[in-house]
Amino acid sequence: MATTHNSTQNSNILEIIKNRYSCRKYLANPVSQEHQGLLAQAVRWAPSACNRQPYSFHFITDGNKIQAIARAVPTGPESINAWISTAPLVVAAVGRPELFWHKLTQVIDKDYHRTDSAIAMDHLSLVATELGLGTCWVGWFHRRKVGQILDITRGDEVIILMTVGYPDKEAPRKKTRKGLDELIVNK
Ligand SMILES: Cc1cc2nc3c(=O)[nH]c(=O)nc-3n(C[C@H](O)[C@H](O)[C@H](O)COP(=O)(O)O)c2cc1C
Repeated sequence: MATTHNSTQNSNILEIIKNRYSCRKYLANPVSQEHQGLLAQAVRWAPSACNRQPYSFHFITDGNKIQAIARAVPTGPESINAWISTAPLVVAAVGRPELFWHKLTQVIDKDYHRTDSAIAMDHLSLVATELGLGTCWVGWFHRRKVGQILDITRGDEVIILMTVGYPDKEAPRKKTRKGLDELIVNK
């Protein structure tokens, strides 16, 4: 790539990407219907392999279910993700591998339901940031237990969770990332 990676040009989307941080403490206020609607649009318009959209997104606002999810850690102390219980909304990306069967299936990696789910959830996190909502990805959870809490269809897979809510006063941790020299390979 001949262009410099240290461009000074402004990008609104890059600002939003940089402003997103893992918010682990939320105000009790529910996420407004309007904002939930925009988050739903964010996942809806995400790209997916062959446009199969092999997923559904559970918007969980039931406090009892959120408490149960917060306790459903795979191993270690339940307190690890106890902060989840402060979130007024948890979104679960539920992948459906069989929807991916396709005439080209022999040459297509069946794991795309996971990739597609991650793309859609990242879209959601960025729209949430733009709306002033805090989010945090949650990958440390007991898949089967959370599947039971959400009563998902047999064969479906809870891929990833994301907490959403209006941030309580919490200073975001300073972001650290690898340098571009470590990250980008020019060939
Ligand atoms: C796939 C994935 C899973 C994650 N799982 C958890 C989790 O279970 N609990 C948690 O507190 N943070 C979790 N995180 C948040 C990361 O720790 C966080 O994104 C990372 O430290 C960078 O910080 P930042 O999000 O503030 O930029 C997860 C992030 C990703 C992308």
